[in-house]
Amino acid sequence: MANFTGLAAARHVVLEKAGWDVERNGLFGAPPITVVVGDEVHVCLLKVLSMLGLGRERVVRVAVDGQGRMRADRIPDLQGPAIVCAQAGNVNTGAFDPIAEIVEKIRKTDNIWLHVDGAFGLWAAASPNRAHLADGIRQADSMATDAHKWLNVPYDSGLVFVRDAGALVAAMSASAAYLTESGKREPFHYVPELSRRARGVEIWAARKSLGKKGLADLIETNCRQATRIAEGLKAAGFAILNDVALNQVLVSFGDAETADRVIRRVQDDGTCWCGGTTWQGKRAMRISVSSWKTTDEDIARSLDAILRMAKGEGL
Ligand SMILES: Cc1ncc(COP(=O)(O)O)c(C=O)c1O
Repeated sequence: MANFTGLAAARHVVLEKAGWDVERNGLFGAPPITVVVGDEVHVCLLKVLSMLGLGRERVVRVAVDGQGRMRADRIPDLQGPAIVCAQAGNVNTGAFDPIAEIVEKIRKTDNIWLHVDGAFGLWAAASPNRAHLADGIRQADSMATDAHKWLNVPYDSGLVFVRDAGALVAAMSASAAYLTESGKREPFHYVPELSRRARGVEIWAARKSLGKKGLADLIETNCRQATRIAEGLKAAGFAILNDVALNQVLVSFGDAETADRVIRRVQDDGTCWCGGTTWQGKRAMRISVSSWKTTDEDIARSLDAILRMAKGEGL
């Protein structure tokens, strides 16, 4: 919903600049919008594009590097109306698209909107040691993140930041005549729903109790713990498929069948939970460290459990 809302604002603005009122007239007969995504775009964003009538498959997919980062030099020369969707935090590797390079590449194009899907990765910007990963993000027109991921509040706490408040309201506003204005900020002019629970309370409480430093420490601790687990696996002879720059670790246990058996054993053992994924053609186990509750001792126990489960496979 956060990505949906940001991209609805994008759709409004790029079409308005092309002389089209999409909220009033829909997309029938509208000027075409070029939508650009990296080849490693999260499936959620494609779903959002389909919900907005922009099409999952009609997108321009830009080649990525070995970490899944969009290659800015591969973005074609664009003409507006256009929307570029960058990613801050690949779900497998944790890698960020090079947002500053993307900005540089598209800067001179008229009528182009830059949206960033930062579902979990954007939280890295709260840590002084990791903020450089998101260089250029301040140039984005909209960005989305999930407080239910690294801030550890309950589902479903998506957040969207839209630079131009007018664009957000134009895309989301219920008819002004629907309910009389109280003169205060009315939430239903900023989000898809008219009625919804006060999701902001938990986010406010978590932010308040952690403070700026607490949040930075949470991010740093989890990233350090991910590095620790990757080092332990590597020392035991397993291949780590990603650069561990954030909280994600991809470990290979060899062929796909063996990997799936080890993953199942790790899950059945229950010391920790890790899922399976396929990264650039290789089956792997994905370790994500993102809980405020995870201690260094948990990491040591988890590493030990994973190694035991892999050894049980004769590895
Ligand atoms: C980059 C990215 N975008 C979007 C999502 C979807 O988030 P949600 O499950 O909160 O809709 C995820 C989930 O992992 C993600 O990693």
